[in-house]
Amino acid sequence: AATRRFRFNVEWKSVTRLCHTKPLLTVNGQYPGPTIAVHEGDSVEIKVTNSISSNTTLHWHGIRQLRTGWADGPAYITQCPIRAGQTYTYRFQVIDQRGTLWWHSHIFWQRASVNGALIIYPRMPYPFKQPIHAEVPIIFGEWWNSDVDEVEKEMMLSGAGPNVSDAFTINGLPGPLYACSAKDTFIQPVSRGKTYLLRIINAGLNNEMFFAVANHTLTVVEVDATYTKPYATRAIMITPGQTTSVLLTADQIPDSSGMFAMSLGPYVTAPIFPFDNSTAVGFLNYKNKRGEKMSPPLSSTVPLGALLHNLPDVLDTQFATRFCTSLRSLATSKYPCNVPQTIDRRVVSTVGLQLQDCPANRTCTGYDGKRFFSSMNNQSFIRPSTAILQSYYYNRKESGYTTDFSEKPPADFDFTGVDPFKENMNTVFGSKILSVPHGTNLEMVFQNTNFLHVENHPIHLHGHNFFVVGQGFGNFDAKKHPKAYNLVDPPERNTVAVPSGGWAAIRFKADNPGAWFIHCHLEEHTTWGLATAFIVQNGPLPSQSLLPPPRDLPKC
Ligand code: C2O
Repeated sequence: AATRRFRFNVEWKSVTRLCHTKPLLTVNGQYPGPTIAVHEGDSVEIKVTNSISSNTTLHWHGIRQLRTGWADGPAYITQCPIRAGQTYTYRFQVIDQRGTLWWHSHIFWQRASVNGALIIYPRMPYPFKQPIHAEVPIIFGEWWNSDVDEVEKEMMLSGAGPNVSDAFTINGLPGPLYACSAKDTFIQPVSRGKTYLLRIINAGLNNEMFFAVANHTLTVVEVDATYTKPYATRAIMITPGQTTSVLLTADQIPDSSGMFAMSLGPYVTAPIFPFDNSTAVGFLNYKNKRGEKMSPPLSSTVPLGALLHNLPDVLDTQFATRFCTSLRSLATSKYPCNVPQTIDRRVVSTVGLQLQDCPANRTCTGYDGKRFFSSMNNQSFIRPSTAILQSYYYNRKESGYTTDFSEKPPADFDFTGVDPFKENMNTVFGSKILSVPHGTNLEMVFQNTNFLHVENHPIHLHGHNFFVVGQGFGNFDAKKHPKAYNLVDPPERNTVAVPSGGWAAIRFKADNPGAWFIHCHLEEHTTWGLATAFIVQNGPLPSQSLLPPPRDLPKC
C-alpha cells in the first residue's frame, strides 16, 4: 500500500454551456473535478486550498473513515469550514473497500460543480469473469445557468421549491438535445466485442435519474462500492449520492455512423412541482475496422428519438422499484454479507416535507401560502455553528447539539392518509441527534410521509455502509414487515432510495467511532432540514476509539 497525494484548489473558472458563460466553482479549474484513483489499503492525502471568498469543505462520499471522522468533511458535523485562503489536508486510509465512490463539496450547494470520481482498485481480481477492456468514469450532473447559491437563497426566502436545473450532463456535457450543445457531447469510443466497466455516479443536486444505452444491456456488478450479483437490465435508476458500476459489452452491429446513444433522463413519482424534464445524450462510438473513430454525429443528422428507446418513461415507478428490489449483495466467502441477524435498537423515522407558517410581513409561495421545510420525525435539522464532532470530542456544549432525537414518528400518523396536513405541521427546529454505544446493531426504518410526494428520498449515512433489508409501499408495520426482511443477501449501500409513498429498512453495526451525518441527498431537502446525525461512542479497546484531531483542522 502506498500514500497517494493530491492537491485540490477550490477556485472559480469561467465555463460555457448552452451558450451561457458563467463563473463556475471548480477544483483545479476542472468540471467535473479531477478523478482520485487509489488502491485498496492506500493512505490518501488531499491538500485542499480554498481560493474563493467563501467557506468550503470536501467530503469523500462512501469512504468509511474508520476512526478518522475528522476527514469526513460535512460542514459543522465533523469540521468547521475551510475559510478563504486557508488550507486543510484530509488524511485517511482506504480500508476494506473497493469500487466506485466519489467526492464532493459538503457546504451550501457547492457540490453542483465541485465533485469528481473516487475510484478504489481492488486488491483481489474482480469477481466477474469478463475481461475489462477499459474502465470509464461517468458522472451525471446538472447544469444551472444561474448561480446555485442564489437558487438556494431564493428558495429559503420564498419558501417554495427551488428553481430547476437547465440541463442534465454526462461528464459535464449536455449533448445535442440542448441549445448550442452538439459540440458539448460525451462520446465514448468502443471496439466491437470488448467489455467496458462504466463507473457511474449521480452527482446531481436534486434529481433521481434513469440511464440507458440504446440496443445495449447494462449488467450491474457493484453499487456504492460493494459488489452485487450480476444484474442485467435495459436501464438503471440512480439517485443523487449513489454509484453504480455496470458492464457493457459492445456487441451490436453499428450502422455507418457507428453511433449508439446513451441517454439520461429524470425520474419522478408525480409531476406536481416543476422539474427539469430534459434529456442528456452521449454516444458510444464503435471504431471501424481500421480502429479509427467514426465522425461524431451532429444533432441534425442523427434520428435521436429512435435511439433513446431503452430509457424508461419519467414516471416509470414500476421500473424503478423493480430495479431497486432486484439488487443483491454478492454474498460469497470472499465477499460475505455481514448483515446483523438480530438488532439492539430500532429507530423508525419519517422522512418528508413539512409546511410552516409564513413569517409575518413576508409572502410565502410554498403551498397554501406557507413555506416548505422537511424533517425526520417532525424534527427539522439545523446545522450548529460549530462542529458536532469537536464539541463531542472535547466534551463541550457550544455546538448546541442534543442527543434526544425522537426515535418514533409522531403518534397516530397514517402515511397513506390523503390529508396528512395536521400531523405534518408541528416541526421543531434544532440539532437533535442520536448517540449509540460502539457495536450497536442498529435498524433504521425510514417512512416516507407521502405529503406532496414527488420523489424518493435518497437517505445517505456517513461513516458506515448499511444493508437494505426491506422496502415497500404504504405504512411500515413493525409486527408484519420484519418477517419478510432479506437477511441473506440484501444490497449493501451508503445511500438508499426510500420509496415515495413507502418505506425502507436498513441494518448495520455502528462500529465506527465519531459523529456521522444522516441526510437526504436531494440538496433541497437537506437545506430544508431532512437530516440528523449520530454519534458512535468509543468502544473499550484502543482500536475502537476515535483518533485525535489533526493539527490543521479548521476552527470556527
Ligand atoms: Cu454525498 Cu453527506 O454526502
